[in-house]
Amino acid sequence: MFGIRNVPLLLLLLIQLLHGGSALDNGLALKPPMGWMSWQRFRCITDCELYPDECISEKLFRRNADLIVSEGYADVGYEYVIIDDCWLEKNRDNKTNKLVPDRKRFPRGLNVLADHIHANGLKFGLYQDFGTKTCAGYPGVINHMALDAETFANWDVDYVKLDGCYANVSDMATGYPEFGRLLNSTGRPMVYSCSWPAYQSELGELPEFESLKQHCNLWRNWDDIDDSFESVMQIIDYFGKNQDSMQPHAGPGHWNDPDMLILGNYGLSYDQSKLQMAIWAVLAAPLIMSNDLAQVRPEIKGILQNRDVIAVNQDSLGIQGKRLLMKQNIEVWRRPITPKVKGEYSYAVAFVSRRTDGAPYPISFTLKELSLINDNGYVVQDLFDMNNKLGVFRAESQFKTRIIPNGVNFYKFTAL
Ligand code: GLA
Repeated sequence: MFGIRNVPLLLLLLIQLLHGGSALDNGLALKPPMGWMSWQRFRCITDCELYPDECISEKLFRRNADLIVSEGYADVGYEYVIIDDCWLEKNRDNKTNKLVPDRKRFPRGLNVLADHIHANGLKFGLYQDFGTKTCAGYPGVINHMALDAETFANWDVDYVKLDGCYANVSDMATGYPEFGRLLNSTGRPMVYSCSWPAYQSELGELPEFESLKQHCNLWRNWDDIDDSFESVMQIIDYFGKNQDSMQPHAGPGHWNDPDMLILGNYGLSYDQSKLQMAIWAVLAAPLIMSNDLAQVRPEIKGILQNRDVIAVNQDSLGIQGKRLLMKQNIEVWRRPITPKVKGEYSYAVAFVSRRTDGAPYPISFTLKELSLINDNGYVVQDLFDMNNKLGVFRAESQFKTRIIPNGVNFYKFTAL
């Protein structure tokens, strides 16, 4: 059956097999995706009579898509508007088996909303679940994967978050790649966000990073974020503790995801908001806000739209940062970034205080202690106020900083 004329085909098959036969390779998410998602702030509010401005409905997503543009978020890179759980009817269409968006809350279907989002120059994301049901109990994809991938493409979806409730974790290693392949074979480029490792880590299993990298553009590593500083710090701790297994696998097109930005809600102070933003920048994390964009106070909006911090997050090298050391309850987090000068990286360095004793805590490091050993040294600027130039520092120099309790100081060390 394979004659001489089929040699190129055989070669192609062989190359595909050597590459695992199924690389995602959709050319998307070369930088950590930025956008807005409903879950953390709006959860599963479905009563539109009682909560007309908050229920999961066409109106909510139109309004926040408009605000992404009018409030200046689009200008700094926020792009994806993502519907999380609770958008579906409880049953599939009984003739076609297709998923049906809630008839009351999305009366015109999803194409109309997708058009509106696209007309704003933004992209459209949608949540589903690998199992029999979504986490909130709506129909999942498991028995209808090809149909659902096709339906997503027909709804002009640009980003899919695939959750993992009501599923066997042992099926995920084949099921998630399979759904990714089906998305790809629709011909519509869709960013693919996988929750599979979060479910594995719950069972104490080590995620299959090589496979994730090959099949997903981003993946939720761990537990859900809640609206509290404690929750932010637990996630940061998880990323710190597990960094050696996680960090090497992040890069352009494939990112670890510590979950949504909660800035602009109820749980974080101004300084704690800076902390989440700084560490998400160090971690090369997707910057997906979940808040009510009409309610974000100007000073918090300033943090969310800080171009210098966003530039760290979106740095073209795409190297995820790590927790470098802990001293006197101060953590130092560090990420290599551009510009690279004569082979030496520049760095974004965050000093995070876990201290709760009232006075801002003064601490001093030689640059050598921070593994910053570039011969010509570094010029240092405050990333939250780039006009604040701290001068030039070399390996032997002492770098002094003073951090408020539960606060962050975030600097750019540009190699000279
Ligand atoms: C899971 C996910 C959350 C959210 C909810 C929706 O808990 O981790 O991010 O999508 O489901 O039900």
